[in-house]
Amino acid sequence: MSLPPRFADLKASIAASYPDFEQNATRSWAEVLRELDEVTKQIKEEGADYIPQVNFADLQNLNEEELLRIKRRGSVIIKDIVPDEQAVKWKEELKEFVAANPTVQGEPADDKQFFHLYWTKPQVQARSHPNVLAATVWLNKLYTAKPGAAISKFDGVDLDVPLTYADRFRIRKPGVGWNFHPPHIDGGTIERWEDPTFRRCFEDILTGNWRRHDPFHLEGRLDARSSLYGRPNQSSIFRSFQGWLAMSETAPTQGTLRVFPDVLLSNAYLILRPFFTPTAPADSEEIYNPASWKFDISAPDFPGIYPRDGGYAGPRPTPALHPNMRLGDSMTSVPKVNPGDAVFWHCDVVHAVETDHVGTGDSAVMYIPAVPMTPQNQAYIERQKASFLSGQRPPDFPRGEAEVGYVGVAGVDDVISKEGRRAMGLMVDSVA
Ligand SMILES: [Fe+2]
Repeated sequence: MSLPPRFADLKASIAASYPDFEQNATRSWAEVLRELDEVTKQIKEEGADYIPQVNFADLQNLNEEELLRIKRRGSVIIKDIVPDEQAVKWKEELKEFVAANPTVQGEPADDKQFFHLYWTKPQVQARSHPNVLAATVWLNKLYTAKPGAAISKFDGVDLDVPLTYADRFRIRKPGVGWNFHPPHIDGGTIERWEDPTFRRCFEDILTGNWRRHDPFHLEGRLDARSSLYGRPNQSSIFRSFQGWLAMSETAPTQGTLRVFPDVLLSNAYLILRPFFTPTAPADSEEIYNPASWKFDISAPDFPGIYPRDGGYAGPRPTPALHPNMRLGDSMTSVPKVNPGDAVFWHCDVVHAVETDHVGTGDSAVMYIPAVPMTPQNQAYIERQKASFLSGQRPPDFPRGEAEVGYVGVAGVDDVISKEGRRAMGLMVDSVA
């Protein structure tokens, strides 16, 4: 599936808009390839331990080194956000909801485990739980303005005010192969290059200063248009981190999340990749040598981006197109979590879901991202609120059967805290 010829023009215009692009990109590409070679070996050696873990209770006491480690890896496990019993209870209630409403939509259709449900009581309660919101504020505040700039320059942005983004949940059974989440990035596909604002997030990479690239700078993120083509299932808001809250124990090999745990390197590699063509086979040893790549902007393809539903999907790195990521070795399963722990990954992180679940119990999670107050996000929250109040699916998600009329759908009273009501747009005054 090739991309339209205009994408060759896009490449040419990007190349023309930065001084000495070819020279800088070629030097950067060689550096990134060499560093990937080292880091991917280290990741393979350390395995799940490569992914940082912190206790919810310790979030405010981390030192600079620990924070830098979390930011570079891009993923973090936050343990004990809510008590185990509470998380397990939510899972049981979700099962009851599904049993009471047999027509709910889910996948696979003959043995539902991933549910197109947004407004059950456990979901609404979990999203508005003060600790869950506090964890997301902490994540939001890992973002900063560029050095020398002040956060206050961003009108209407308040990283201390969390917003709620309603998403779904899964209760995955052992033994069933899931093949629908190979390595990918959400929240913007070709837009990462095509939208000039989104592209600003990667400016340091495109100007030859990839080591200076900071995926946690707010510039560009806030107004980035991550959904130029309005494809369903394509988040239109800025989530600082995607995440899920565990409602069961889930360990590696039990259908858990896998990540490429170096967001600086994966960004640098993926953003520069469309400007280079290999001269050696992807599965050969030579491919790791920068001399086996040449600068080439003649073709319209952006490797890993492909047309879908009138828009584009990806980036979806693959061993054939992105050999230097050594995905087979570097995609790392997150360490074991217990009910009430959560996993969060930066919105640029390459992630996947394990295809097999060889454990013995459910692997159950609610998808709950970190979302800061920004004008664009607030506008979405208003539309989302209307869908909550009328029991409809939230605006970003595929159309289908609505929840209104199901037994046990949440109401406003299930939003359990003041911060939670604010996060849902149910009160306009800031939380005192
Ligand atoms: Fe995803």
